[in-house]
Formats: sequence, C-alpha cells, structure tokens
Amino acid sequence: MQTGQPSRTALAAAIHRAAHQVLEDGRIFPDPLAMRILGEDAGELVREVRDDAFGRALRLFVVARARITEDALADAVRRGTRQLVILGAGLDTYAYRAVPDVLRVFEVDFPATQAWKRERLASAHIDLPANLVFAPVDFEHQTLAQGLAAAGVERAVPTFFTWLGVVPYLTTEAFNATLSYIAQFPAETQVVFDYANPPASLSGVHRAEVEALAERVTAAGEPFRNYLDTDELHARLAAMGLRVIEDLGPKAIFGRFSPEHVPYVQERGGQILRATNVQR
Ligand SMILES: C[S@@+](CC[C@H](N)C(=O)[O-])C[C@H]1O[C@@H](n2cnc3c(N)ncnc32)[C@H](O)[C@@H]1O
Repeated sequence: MQTGQPSRTALAAAIHRAAHQVLEDGRIFPDPLAMRILGEDAGELVREVRDDAFGRALRLFVVARARITEDALADAVRRGTRQLVILGAGLDTYAYRAVPDVLRVFEVDFPATQAWKRERLASAHIDLPANLVFAPVDFEHQTLAQGLAAAGVERAVPTFFTWLGVVPYLTTEAFNATLSYIAQFPAETQVVFDYANPPASLSGVHRAEVEALAERVTAAGEPFRNYLDTDELHARLAAMGLRVIEDLGPKAIFGRFSPEHVPYVQERGGQILRATNVQR
C-alpha cells in the first residue's frame, strides 16, 4: 500500500464485480451498484478487463466469494446476527443495497481508502444508510479492538465478520491479531475470508498464473505477504477456538457456481473459508 493513497487492489476487485455484471449478466453475484460506484469511467474500465481463462477465473472467484459471504450473512441474520463488520471493505457495496434494518454495518479500511470511497459514493449519488458506520483502521498499526470499540461495535451482540481479498496482503502478526480478536469475541460470531495457498504447492500453469498475479500486485504497491497452508491454518484456527464451517477450494467453488470451469482449476489454491467461535 502506498502511504496515504487509496488501495489499487480495492479498485481492481470492484472492476471484477462490475465486469461480471456486464460479461456474465451478474449470474453469480448481481450487484446493481457495481458499475455506479466506479463512476464515469466504469464502461472503459470494464472494457479493459482481461477475459482470458485466468482473467475469467479470477473474476469468478471474486464474485463467488461475495456471493458465498452474502448468502451466509443472510442466513446468520435470520438466526439473530445484528452486526456486520466488513474488514478491508474497499468498494464493497453491500451496505448501500438491501440491508436488513436490524443489521448495523461497520466498514473498516485504511483511512485513505475509506476517504476515497466516500468521495466515490458522493459523486455517484449513492446514499449512506443510517445503519452504516465508517471505522478507519490500519490493521498493521492499530488494534482492531480499539478501532471497533471507538466505532461503537457492541461485544454482546452476535456479529458477522467479512474479510474478503485482504488476508494475502497482511503480515502474519496482523492476520493473527485479527483472527484472535474474532475468536475471542464474547458473542456468537462468524467470519468469512479468502486466502491463497503457497504458489510452491500449486502445479504448472496455476503456479505461473499466481506468480504473475503476485508480481502485478507488488507493482501496485500491495505485495502478497501471507500465503497459508490449509492444514496449518485449520490447526491455527482450532487452537484459537475457531471452528471451520467450510473451506472451499477452486473445484468446489466453481462446481457450485460455474461447473464449466471445474476441469481447468485445481483442488486447492485460492480458498474461501468460513469459521465460527461456536463449538458444536
Ligand atoms: C483487494 S482489496 C479488497 C476490498 C474488498 N474487500 C473487496 O472484496 O472488494 C483489499 C482491501 O484491504 C484493505 N487493507 C489492506 N491492508 C489493510 C490494513 N492493514 N488495514 C486496513 N485495511 C487494509 C485495502 O485498503 C483494501 O480496501
């Protein structure tokens, strides 16, 4: 991340969601604000997206993680969840669509990214809902506990955390600190995040594609710093008191949303994990 600058990968993720509306008709993740939040350049940004096999797989991964998250969130709200904390929100539009009145939403992000998002929302005439709170926090230099307490997160209220497209960019220390905050949350919680297995564990073309992506995000000033081995991660979560509900690899994700891509992806690689602090 360039100091004081908005996240460039946040813009990239938003372009994937917008391109999905145009190129796949929002089939996996319909988002009526995805184009609007990109502003006047939306059409041009979408026309420039890479639509080869890897570009498409990356886009479908980004929208599948949003879909999986919002489906699980809707279910959690039906069962009593009343707070949503979006960690590293970027240009996520959930709070500006049909949010249930009972849910308070906290968007957490780098101050510079958050200020940039607020400008974009204003220029796109997207209203801020009354149940939304912005919490500017840098996970590397501030504790989440302080940032969320200052924003008014109530620790006695069942809470859902989303953490999409963020984990690979964090140091191990910031990743562990955030996980342990979630694990120790006194009320019932769920967390959804995506993570990447080490490129060395991938084969052939998949490894080359991930290494090329890693070079691109490094060039954007936001290098991948936190690859995670699935078995080690599960052991770490269990030791912290988090139970894995599901951890979907590429074959399972595409099997659910885009079966025609299943033959071209690996069993593991880019993972979407959902966990809870409730032990059965
Ligand atoms: C790839 S973007 C994903 C944004 C959004 N979750 C999405 O899926 O579109 C990564 C986000 O994490 C935020 N981020 C990365 N490191 C962070 C940190 N140390 N503290 C706060 N936010 C951070 C960036 O500002 C950016 O918004």
